[in-house]
Amino acid sequence: MTVTIELKGGIAVVTVDNPPVNALSQALRQGLLEAAETLDADPSVKAVVLTCAGRTFIAGADVGEFGKPPQPPHLPDVVARIESAAKPWVAVIHGAALGGGFEVALACRFRVAAPDASMGLPEVRLGLVPGAGGTVRLPRLAGVETAVAMVTTGQPVKAVNALSAGLIDTIVEGDLTEGAIAFGRGISNAPLPAPLSERGVASPDAGFWEMAETSVAARAKGEEAPFRALACLRKAAESDFETAMAFERETFLSLRGSTQAAALLHVFFAERAATRPPELAGVEPRPIRSAAVIGGGTMGAGIAAALRDAGLPVILVERDQAAVERGLANVAAIFEGSAKRGRISAEIAAERIAGVTGSANYAAAADVDLAVEAVFEDLEVKRAVFAKLGEVCRPDAVLATNTSYLDPNAIASGIVHPERFLGLHFFSPANIMKLMEIVPAAETATEVTAAGFALARLLNKIPVRAGICDGFIGNRILKVTRAQAERLLLSGATPAAVDAAMRAFGLPMGPFEAQDLGGLDIAAFQRRAARARGETPFAPIADRLCAVERYGQKTGGGWYDYQPGERKPHASETVAAIIAEEAVHTPRRDWTPSEIADCIVLPMVNEAARILTEGVALRAADIDLVKIHGYGFPRWRGGPMAYAEARGLAEVSDALTRLAETGLAEPPCALLKQAAGGGKWPWP
Ligand code: NAI
Repeated sequence: MTVTIELKGGIAVVTVDNPPVNALSQALRQGLLEAAETLDADPSVKAVVLTCAGRTFIAGADVGEFGKPPQPPHLPDVVARIESAAKPWVAVIHGAALGGGFEVALACRFRVAAPDASMGLPEVRLGLVPGAGGTVRLPRLAGVETAVAMVTTGQPVKAVNALSAGLIDTIVEGDLTEGAIAFGRGISNAPLPAPLSERGVASPDAGFWEMAETSVAARAKGEEAPFRALACLRKAAESDFETAMAFERETFLSLRGSTQAAALLHVFFAERAATRPPELAGVEPRPIRSAAVIGGGTMGAGIAAALRDAGLPVILVERDQAAVERGLANVAAIFEGSAKRGRISAEIAAERIAGVTGSANYAAAADVDLAVEAVFEDLEVKRAVFAKLGEVCRPDAVLATNTSYLDPNAIASGIVHPERFLGLHFFSPANIMKLMEIVPAAETATEVTAAGFALARLLNKIPVRAGICDGFIGNRILKVTRAQAERLLLSGATPAAVDAAMRAFGLPMGPFEAQDLGGLDIAAFQRRAARARGETPFAPIADRLCAVERYGQKTGGGWYDYQPGERKPHASETVAAIIAEEAVHTPRRDWTPSEIADCIVLPMVNEAARILTEGVALRAADIDLVKIHGYGFPRWRGGPMAYAEARGLAEVSDALTRLAETGLAEPPCALLKQAAGGGKWPWP
């Protein structure tokens, strides 16, 4: 039974039990409706306590029902029935009350929560708005400011903040159900507060809606749902309950079939699938309970912080004692920064810092389950590191490299027990960025690859398996898009126009701004290595900038000029002169923002298709995850593969052919041409 009722001396305890997360399936909706009917008819019942079995309250819609015709009873009707029940219902929240789950809680006359509970309306993250009165009842409960913050961002609120915002009536310490029953007894004789549908909304300060619109626009970057959610909330504040409910429903239905909602749903399912790839089903991962990080620079410090955040003790190994001190200071700076931004408390920061110890002696890593190498990007340096790790570490310890471009097989060659070696490619800042490329080498054991995926789950990251090639999945595509950005400059676009066009496409930053922020030297180093291998990377302008040490913000100039101590980019005459010199033989013309975006995004899709053909990525959706979580590709566009399919693969293929005819891109690859015929990639 999904919903059961137990009577406890005038208090009915309704228990929802629909593992794993009590999702609002048809059976659950039906069960709740019937419970309301039954309990209204029972004169012995004074109040109803709605509680959930397992680890959470109702955590949202049943994703298994997505895309299928909705079956009655519909959630808005269930919510309305609970709200109009003759007996007061008390929602008892533990874990998370999200989406439809929180809307059910809003239907109840009271809400109590465990101290570690959270609640929210995350629908915008799936390109939707709440569909069962969330935008209408929430402002009636907590005011428009709280409602706008919650609904337009989709961010959940923790119990303590929920209490101060008026979302819940009390926090129950100790046994939650007993506490809720006691709460139910307390209310059963008192006069009841009006149901939310009968309450009004306090008017916000003048100018509130305009300010809210501006802040949503700054965050949404082309995403539609947050604006539509804001419109629903405004309607809720400015009209009667029924009108607002009808407006929310209409908005919900119009978004449900939208391209953006489909793209966001695609990403949601891809993320869920990523952590447990079918090819590793049944493989027991090697356990990882402790770690060493070799190298305490930008990446090493970030990786150490990520491992600490997941609760692992970490040993940082560096070249000498001075470098150890610098590395530990880098780690401390990360946690202190997190505390300053309010992400963690000062006590937790201190505890995390204390959990990272340093050593200049590799023997300190003798007993760890995992050693991650993040030293200079130099094959011989890395090989020397793994030779030492091979000697000191336990034979079953996982040994991982964070190399960006080197061949993991070359790094692994000669180490003892090569089956324990793996590429774990983190992204900078490693304690923040969600993506982790997992790169098995030729001799990596499956339980070691599985350990990489288990580690990603522990670190709350999105793992994507990548095959070995120059740059794996993400940086290989990055090389193509950077070359395209330079082709645009040679063909008449300015750095500012390219950056603006890519921001308009939905990226947080354009390609040139991003390079100036990260520094042009890393890519220059990598191009030198590629040239030494006989390759011919295309970066005529970046090469010229690096030749005059214009490495970006850190040198006061890169693609743009910077005033000392400032980050605001200014168009550079030096750069314009270099572009003009390099472009003497290239026809120049004006570019519209959408042409610029095509000239960068469509070759990205083409390279992604090649990556798929070569098996460097196993699934098209994996490439979408790499671009979204490692490179800022707009989530609401679903990643490059989903974007191309939604736009039409035939159109993408034709547009690439036209670009190729003018020398601005490679022609469509075989897979793209083939997929264009049927309009679909080979998913999954
Ligand atoms: P970094 O220069 O900031 O840090 C390297 C650290 O390694 C230095 O602290 C150095 O003292 C230490 N080190 C060098 N030789 C050592 C040895 N034999 N034993 C112990 N420590 C040693 O470099 P960064 O940026 O942290 O990069 C490290 C690795 O991570 C490189 O392979 C790089 O390609 C890769 N990577 C870098 C990314 C980035 O955005 N910076 C992103 C992803 C990967």
